[in-house]
Amino acid sequence: MVDPSTAKRLVQVIHDNLPAPVPGRRPVHTIGIGVKGKFVASEVARTYCIAEHFNGEPVDVSIRFSNGLGGLEQHDGWSDVRGMAVRFHLRDTTASDLIATTLGEFFVRNVDDFFEFSRVAKREPHRRRHWLLKIADFLQLKIPPRTPYAGETQSVDAGALRYANRHRFAQLGIFQVGTIGAPESYARASYHAVHTFWVTAPDGVRRPVRFYWQPVAGVNNTDPKAVPKDKYLFEELKDRLRRWPARFMLMMTIGEEGDAIDDCTKPWPGTRVRVAMGTLTLTEIPEGDDQAAAGERISFNPCRLAPGIEASNDPILEARLGAYEVSREMRGGCPFKWRPDDVA
Ligand code: HEM
Repeated sequence: MVDPSTAKRLVQVIHDNLPAPVPGRRPVHTIGIGVKGKFVASEVARTYCIAEHFNGEPVDVSIRFSNGLGGLEQHDGWSDVRGMAVRFHLRDTTASDLIATTLGEFFVRNVDDFFEFSRVAKREPHRRRHWLLKIADFLQLKIPPRTPYAGETQSVDAGALRYANRHRFAQLGIFQVGTIGAPESYARASYHAVHTFWVTAPDGVRRPVRFYWQPVAGVNNTDPKAVPKDKYLFEELKDRLRRWPARFMLMMTIGEEGDAIDDCTKPWPGTRVRVAMGTLTLTEIPEGDDQAAAGERISFNPCRLAPGIEASNDPILEARLGAYEVSREMRGGCPFKWRPDDVA
């Protein structure tokens, strides 16, 4: 675990890079919606992992979908990373969390990289790039700066590209951020937990794995050429669930000898075995104060894991353990029991 002062600095640099402070709210993924659901593990899940939510009994789940940006502007139609944070509610009022985004790989390997990225990728005015330079960018496999949205005067794009041009490990993640688009629905995107976790099987075998959520409705983005709408994702999800529950498959990719275990910027080969661990059904969107609890006061942590799942030594995962707690305290989010004997 990183020391508490580093955890505080991590959250502080995120706050410092915001255009305006958002007291009492998350500094990133600020806009989000809480949803209730049920998870049912597949038949094979329990043969790979002894964690309670993989035993086949239906488990209550809290989900928070979010836009990646920090701030109160709800630009649903802008190209942005989206989040899906999931809490599996277990016996003894404990839980296991799984936090994922639409990025397949992250763009920094450790805390020092994160601090450097935060220094380089500051918000700056969009500059027009001559079309000849855009062609030169393509020829050099660089991502040309995108056309800003109406009303978007500043972004971190230019700094992020400068960072990626200097750091090879960042290129895959930053390329994905640059081209990610906007989902038609929170239920039509796939979400990746990016880090490696170790799962223990009933026979004691431990395997390195990566988790992602695959939407049963399929992945679909909005038309990038159409004028983006600011607010549609909450209403779309409400309409969708009024008609029919939405579903996600929880997929688990199993790592092999030589795969990057402690580096979430490195992809694994596409040929790795993938196991369908279960189905999540989104059932209900709470209203009023229940929505405030489900969407705002709830706090997730990627290291809150049921026995049978362990964090790898990925330095970013270790750093998130403390950073999310610091952020939760700063915004007055609900504390949560980690183990049966903890006081909530
Ligand atoms: C050094 C790296 C990172 C730092 C410092 C960081 C920091 C934070 C902070 C402070 C929050 C707000 C937490 C709260 O107030 O409850 C947050 C939320 C979030 N982060 Fe990260 N994060 C990092 C990496 C990641 C990665 C790799 C992922 C992808 C899996 C991710 C996905 C999310 C999501 C989805 C949320 C919103 C969770 C919610 O809905 O409550 N973050 N992050």
